[in-house]
Order: sequence, then C-alpha cells, then structure tokens
Amino acid sequence: MAESSEALKAEIRELTARVEEHGYRYHVLDAPTVTDSEYDEMFRRLSRLEQEHPELALPNSPTAKVGGPPVERFATVRHTLPMLSLDNVTNPDELADFEQRVQRFLKSTDPLEYVVEPKIDGVGVELVYEDGVLTVGSTRGDGTDGEDITQNVRTIRSVALALRRDGAPVPRLLAVRGEVFYPTEGFRRLNRQREEAGEYVFANPRNAAAGALKQLDSKITASRPLDLFCHGMGAVEPASFASQSDFHARLRDWGLKPVPLTRVCRGVDEIVAYQEEMEGRRDGLPYEIDGVVVKVNSLELQRRLGQIARSPRWAMAYKFKPRQSTTRILDIQTQVGRTGTLTPVAHLEPVQLAGVTVRNASLHNMDEIERKDIRVGDTIVLERAGDVIPYVVRVVEEERDGSERAFAMPVLCPMCGSQVYREEGEAAYRCVGLSCPAKLKESLKFFGSRNALDIEGLGEKLIEQLVEKELVADSADLYSLGEETLASLERMGVKSAQNLIRELGRSKDTSLARFVTALGIRHVGEATAKVLAEHFGSLDGIMGAEEEALTEVRDVGPEVAKSIAGFFAEPGNRRVIDKLLAAGFRLKAEAPAEGALTGLSFVLTGSLATMSRSEAQKSIVALGGRVSGSVSGKTDYVVVGVDPGSKAAKAEELGVRVLDEDGLRALLEGGG
Ligand code: IVH
Repeated sequence: MAESSEALKAEIRELTARVEEHGYRYHVLDAPTVTDSEYDEMFRRLSRLEQEHPELALPNSPTAKVGGPPVERFATVRHTLPMLSLDNVTNPDELADFEQRVQRFLKSTDPLEYVVEPKIDGVGVELVYEDGVLTVGSTRGDGTDGEDITQNVRTIRSVALALRRDGAPVPRLLAVRGEVFYPTEGFRRLNRQREEAGEYVFANPRNAAAGALKQLDSKITASRPLDLFCHGMGAVEPASFASQSDFHARLRDWGLKPVPLTRVCRGVDEIVAYQEEMEGRRDGLPYEIDGVVVKVNSLELQRRLGQIARSPRWAMAYKFKPRQSTTRILDIQTQVGRTGTLTPVAHLEPVQLAGVTVRNASLHNMDEIERKDIRVGDTIVLERAGDVIPYVVRVVEEERDGSERAFAMPVLCPMCGSQVYREEGEAAYRCVGLSCPAKLKESLKFFGSRNALDIEGLGEKLIEQLVEKELVADSADLYSLGEETLASLERMGVKSAQNLIRELGRSKDTSLARFVTALGIRHVGEATAKVLAEHFGSLDGIMGAEEEALTEVRDVGPEVAKSIAGFFAEPGNRRVIDKLLAAGFRLKAEAPAEGALTGLSFVLTGSLATMSRSEAQKSIVALGGRVSGSVSGKTDYVVVGVDPGSKAAKAEELGVRVLDEDGLRALLEGGG
C-alpha cells in the first residue's frame, strides 16, 4: 500500500509538472509542443487521480482552474499602489505636445525612448504574488480599493497560480497589472448563444469580460474563455529591472503573458507609424484594441515624472478613430413591431465593419432619416464604436448622382394593408390594424417571453407558422390548440406538442403582474405592471380604473395612464381578456417585497456592464424597491450606466441622487 502510494505521489507530481509546462507553452508562449488531445489526455488523467486521492493533489495544481464554491459578495481589497488611469490624445499634434511636456519636465531635449503597446479593450486587474504564489486578484475599483476576485482570476487559463522559477529570480512581492479580455471569437459565440436563448446580448467584449469576471460563482467564470495580458506593475520588492521592456521580458520568465506586439520607439514619428500600423491590423487581431499606449521606457524617468491628478505623466493613450466603413443603401424597408411601430431599416450592399459583415442598419424613425437626409441609393458612412449595432453616421453627398430616391413611410402597413398613422408629437409611425400579422407575431412572442408568461417552447418559428396558417388570431387562441394540430407543424412532433401544451397549462397559474405585462399594453412593461398590480390588487380593479385614477398611481404619468385606459376601452382587447380568463387563468396578486430598499424609487438608464437591466430591476424589487421608467421629483436614485440617455440630465436638473453601477451594487449588497 505504502509503495503504491509513493508511486502515485510521484505520478501526480510528474503529471502536474507536465500539465503546467504544456499549459504555459500553449497559453502563454502560444507555442505548444504537444497536440491538444495529448494535453487533454494528461489533464484528464491528473484530474482523475486528484479526485480519487484528494490528499495527494499538489497546491496550485493547474486543474484548480474549474472554479470553487460560490461566494455571497466580493470583499474589498486595497491595491499595493493606486491604480491610475490614462490621459488620452487623438492625433499626432497632441502626441507631440505630450512629448514636449515630458521633455520640459525632465529639462531635456534628447529624444527619449518609449515603449508602445496595444491598448487592450478589457477590464483592468491587479494580481499579487507573494513568494511566487498568487494570493490576490482584484478589479480596479476606485483605483485605491478594488473587489477581491481571486477565485475568478484563478480560473483564467493564462494566469499562473505560481510563478516559474527557472528564469529570472522571483521577487518576494510582485503586483502585476493587466487587462482581462474576452477573445473576439468567443464573444461572438457567446452572443449568438444568448440571442438564440432570448437572453440579453453584450454590447461589446469588454462588457462580456466584466460580466464574466464579476460572477459570484467562479464556475461560471471558468466556463468563459477569458484571457489576460499583463502591462504594468504595482509594488515590486525587490525590483530587478530598469525599464518597461525589461519588465516585459521578466514577465515571460515568470510564466505570465505580457501584452503582445509591443515596440520600442524614439520620437513622435515612430509612435505615429506604430499607431497607424496597429489600426490597420486591428480587425485581424483575436482581441479588441482601441488604441495604443505610449510609455516612457526608463523606470527611473517614470519615477521622476510622477503623476498629475490621477494619471501618470509618463504615459499616454493614443486612441484610434471609431471604426467606419462606407457602403451603399440598396433599399429601405419597414419592419412592424409588437405595438405596430414601423421601423425603417436600410438594406446595404454587404460591407465588412470591425470584422463582421453588415447587411442591415436600423434608421430608427422618420425624424432620423430627415435629419440626416438619407435616401435610397446613397453612399453612407457606417460606424461601430466597439459595439455590436452599426449605425449610419452620415451621407456622403459628393457621391450622389441624382438617381437617389427619398424615402417615405408607407401609408399602408406593409404586413396587413391597414392604415399607418403618426400621433402628434411622436417620432413613430404605427399600423392601426388590429389583426396585423406582424403585430400579432410580435405580441405572441412578447406574451410568452421570460418577463411575461415565460412559456418555454413558444419560439419564433412556431409563432410564425401559427400566424401564417391562421391557427391563432390572438393570444387566447394558444390555449385551444390541440396536440395533433401542433404536432403536424414543421419542426414539431408529438413530444414537443405535449410539452408546449403542458407549458401553456402551467402558464395559467401566474401573478396578476405577469398577466398584465403579457397583455403588451403600450408603455406598460414589467415594472409598471407590477405597480398596477400592487396598487389595484385585482384585474377588475385595473380594468375599471379611469384615466384620472391611473395617474394617481405612483410612477404612472398621463401618457401611460392614457395608454392603459385606451387599451381596456377597446372592445377587441376586452374580448381577448375574457377568452383568456375563460381558458382558466388564476391570477395571484402579490404583496410587495419588504427589504433594505422599501420605499425607495429607482430609474435605470444606459447599459450596465455586469448585469442586464432586468437583472438589476429584479434585485431592486426583491429588496422592496421600485423601478420606474421616468425621472420625477419622486425618484430617489437614478442609476447611470454606459451611454445614458436624457434621464441622467433630468436627474441632475431635479437634483435626484445619481448612482453608477458600483454604487448600485453597494446598495444591493447593503454596503451603501
Ligand atoms: S498602462 C497608469 N497599458 O487602459 C495606467 N494600460 O484607460 C497605466 N489598458 O487603466 C496603464 N491596455 O486598464 C496600460 N497596454 C496597456 C493597456 C492599458 C489597456 C487599460 C488599463 C488602464 C486603462 C486606462
């Protein structure tokens, strides 16, 4: 027994070393010497032995990259030294000013040596190694204190859990700064999957990286293809290098991955040439970069230059222009949404933009088309500011030859032939058709969506068939569909028909709020439906309320009240509701949750990096808070994400407290 245990120990030691070595060659050096399947084989064998003999597993085994038990919240950790931010320039003149400032400060006219690096569009982190072992990983936070995400960074394949000791001597303390990023290909895959599952898609790889990194359950982080490039240092004791480029070389010795494609440059011209070269290579890189970072190479000079405000004097970001392409508008067509809104969409000559082929671009509404004077046949400039959705920046008027045609909204709905009208003071044109198939399809999709009745199996393809074959004319008809009819549809079978019928049956046991949401009343989303349900307590109560009474409900303004009253005044809508109730709906009115946020009213604006808005909303409501759609004097907090709308300005105007995402998180976690 003792013998075999010795042999086992030896095998585990040997396997651990091999997996570590080949992982390093693969993830850090990008130069594997065994095939993927050979590596997988060793990895699996090691994991199995460790599982069977946990007492023999070595600390920091490379198999520990699968994540640990979930945590309740992240602790706060102080950085070894403050994590600063970068100033940025956008053209060669500003860059020349930077160089002059540096020279003036150093009282020197000699050309200085700089290191230039790609600016990785990811999430900044600090990793602390004590005696060569990774002890803490943290987010930037406010620059002084960050969140302790050690569990999560440990799951990143290229993050060494222990530094290699076969090269440069390992310092007693080494704080490395770097950028966690979501590789572009993995990002596209993630968004495709999320879209298919009907989930919120990330606007850009940076948000996806932030989302993955801030998971309380590190197993989720482990399942994402996150990667890390190192670009700087915090405290290092003792420091054994004199320049930024020395430091990069040391990183590789220690088994860490420095930012690739760095170069030593002298003077502005070389830096500009480098920046332009990187801009040209940008779309071919497997990760997002949004500019380059210029750093004075000598650490001694960096020390002398120091910092001003929150930025070092020795470094500067030199950003790229947003990515643009030009193409031609072949046609403009209109799409009809759930509430009948007609959205004009430009069909484009396919064009490559930021690595993807773009064929369509929404033109949003008629005002936008008129403001930019967009015509069919126009050559246009498209832009994607690192985000997924491309938009038309402007028309290239010089390219016009007179054959361009102005676009007019159709007078009749392209889907059902009903009248199209535009309400005064509104940008949107709407189809009035009660049974417009496009509206019907969208409203059925909404009816079954997650925040409404959450009917699994009621997918887009099925809805299309149901509407086109005229099997349903409204949502209530779903409840009289027979198994045979459903089973006979394309991509369906007896099993999926039975499942759907079961799901439909289950959906009748729901809350009043979800039911009201599912009706798809204009301006009434999940949050307003909830408020209405709480206020009136019954469907009859809501249906019977006069416009006047509705305005008295908190967060319901005159426009929303009008929409609600108008909806229930419509005999067709009442008939559908009667049919639904006859199908056996049982509605539970909910008492509002009680918690730390009881009595507080929130408005969310802009997109959040680490949670979807509906997740944020749920968390607020779960603690007793309310979320409303518009800012008023009654609002307690406005939560501002990226690209906030006019609501942020409104908040300022009304003196309402504004929170950023971290602030919201602090409140939710009871720390704020
Ligand atoms: S050096 C004083 N190098 O960009 C800060 N930063 O906008 C020195 N970043 O907070 C940072 N790539 O998170 C540096 N090659 C690179 C970078 C880089 C991305 C991030 C970093 C920083 C932010 C500033």
